[in-house]
Amino acid sequence: MDAPFMNYQNEIYLGGLSQQRPSFPLSIPELEARAYEAMTPEARGYVEGGAGSGYTMRANRDAFDRWRIVPRMLNDVAERDLSIELFDRTYPAPVLLAPIGVQSIVHPEGELAVARAAAQVGLPMILSTAASHSIENVAEASGSGARWFQLYWPNDETLTRSFIARAEEAGYEALVVTLDTSLLAWRPADLQSAYLPFLMGQGIANYITDPTFRAALEKDPEEDMTGAVMRWVQVFSNPAYTWDDLAMIRSATDLPILLKGVLHPDDARKAVEHGMNGVIVSNHGGRQVDGSIATLDALPAVVAEVGDDFPVLVDSGVRTASDALKAVALGARAVLLGRPYIWGLTLGGEAGVIQMLRAYLAELDLTLALTGNRSLSTVGRETIQPRPAGEIGAR
Ligand code: FNR
Repeated sequence: MDAPFMNYQNEIYLGGLSQQRPSFPLSIPELEARAYEAMTPEARGYVEGGAGSGYTMRANRDAFDRWRIVPRMLNDVAERDLSIELFDRTYPAPVLLAPIGVQSIVHPEGELAVARAAAQVGLPMILSTAASHSIENVAEASGSGARWFQLYWPNDETLTRSFIARAEEAGYEALVVTLDTSLLAWRPADLQSAYLPFLMGQGIANYITDPTFRAALEKDPEEDMTGAVMRWVQVFSNPAYTWDDLAMIRSATDLPILLKGVLHPDDARKAVEHGMNGVIVSNHGGRQVDGSIATLDALPAVVAEVGDDFPVLVDSGVRTASDALKAVALGARAVLLGRPYIWGLTLGGEAGVIQMLRAYLAELDLTLALTGNRSLSTVGRETIQPRPAGEIGAR
């Protein structure tokens, strides 16, 4: 597949001949540092922060760093194809944009800018329930771009069905049900600044535009935002849900459903048994359970449990292209990028996200080629080796 990202490296070097340089940092640590400097302290705490001690975020990175790639030579890699098949559709690369809520805290255009960027680069975006812009407005910004909808499963069946119906109506092609946030975790950074954007009416656009949500309010949100926020607190989640309750979601849609937040192979098997179509191995970027297993460590057992035909995606700690290659080598169908595209959004809105995504894909294409692969089908367990025990894990 001839995708535009393959020429990005040439484009950058040729631009140099007319004094053009990339507008935002290409180095991921530098992009991260600059973005956090540019955010308000509260937004920084919200995006950067993790649960408890932050151990899980470090563990996520360490799990990627414990694998090494073993490149192979002379394999004719002149033509490459990064595409994947998922739910009867071909996507140009094994990369999606993770659902990230309340993006208006880093950029006013938030999810609208991200939707335009994802569509332009050709990657699917997953819109969060907790978005700053509505399902319908983001769909319009996304245009013909691929989009999935992430459901925070409300404590109200009518609202749940309404969200799913709206997403279907607006052309979202899969439903991602996030299971790891039935309660908001203990997050010291946000607690220290006593900051939860939703309580200020940010990140609840999908609720206040929902006819069933509005019907339950005494006054319209435009008149009484506090009343709407209080209702949001009541309906946001239900920690009493069990596996059998998934039948309700299954009955609400024919879209493929993926469960996000699966880390144990038995839970992956239950996903299959309950008629789900995929799982996303995720620990929410280390924001929910402090001391959680790293996602790359959880991945192989999950894949072994459900088999190769059942899509297993992974996120949490994916930073450079080599991370995607390692995840695919361990059986993932695709990875989700999270914080990195938010850093691009912070610094440059749509243009910042586009640069971040194009750079990621260009690097992935080169990594595939330079490791001796023309497509992902030859990337497997033999592509990587564990880091020798005792060796310092510097990248
Ligand atoms: C998230 N994540 C998330 N997940 C989800 O299902 N719905 C959501 O609304 C959000 N919101 C959200 C906000 C912020 C600020 C962050 C950082 C993350 C989790 C997200 O989908 C993904 O699992 C993580 O971002 C992956 O970790 P890294 O790679 O970003 O560190």
